[in-house]
Amino acid sequence: SSKITIAIDGFSSTGKSTLAKQLAKELGYVFVDTGAMYRAITLFSMQQGYISKDYFDTESLLNSLPSIRLRFEFKPEMGFAVMVLNDVDVEKEIRTIAVSGFVSKIAELAEVRAKLVEQQQEMGKDKGIVMDGRDIGTVVFPDAELKLYMTANAETRAKRRYDELLAKGDTITFKEIYDNVVERDYIDTHRDNSPLVKANDAIEIDNSEMTREAQFDLVMKFVQEKI
Ligand code: C5P
Repeated sequence: SSKITIAIDGFSSTGKSTLAKQLAKELGYVFVDTGAMYRAITLFSMQQGYISKDYFDTESLLNSLPSIRLRFEFKPEMGFAVMVLNDVDVEKEIRTIAVSGFVSKIAELAEVRAKLVEQQQEMGKDKGIVMDGRDIGTVVFPDAELKLYMTANAETRAKRRYDELLAKGDTITFKEIYDNVVERDYIDTHRDNSPLVKANDAIEIDNSEMTREAQFDLVMKFVQEKI
């Protein structure tokens, strides 16, 4: 059997990363969550004071882009890779609602996307990769052998994210999460640069009413047809 590239795109909180992680583990492939990279650049911008509510110093961010180093570091004890920004593990910080609130603004910038897409293509050059994001099947790996486009209704997605953050001990209201999910969907699908769209050859999966296990079994059937 040959190694393939699996591209998973879709709206926020559709379980893309969970599925991608499961697939990578099953197949012995590399898993890359590209959202983490956009989130890390967002965290950097917040730390430097380049972005805040009602303020965005795009120029300063673009000037410092070349100095931002991102990498994934595999943690055997956790069984997955964490995001490392300029040699600091930021896996926890990038998942906060504060970062979620700004990330789609950062992801609109063509220069930011160009930098990250280049790094993503490099990571996938030998195939055997499962990458999730918004533009993987359309821009990063237009020739991917298997492309999935994941959707679910906004309430279901917000509820999943809410339960996740609650379990982590975050104090947050359902409405805050729901509003953030809806706002990010809007910005991600309407931006000029690499908007979220379904690739022509992607398989759409609406998992509003699907269990993780059922979804995994379904997708593994698609994988078997390709390898
Ligand atoms: O996947 P996640 O929800 O963590 O992604 C956070 C944000 O990063 C998205 O809402 C989107 O604005 C941006 N993103 C993107 N392109 C990708 C991955 C994420 O624009 N490939």
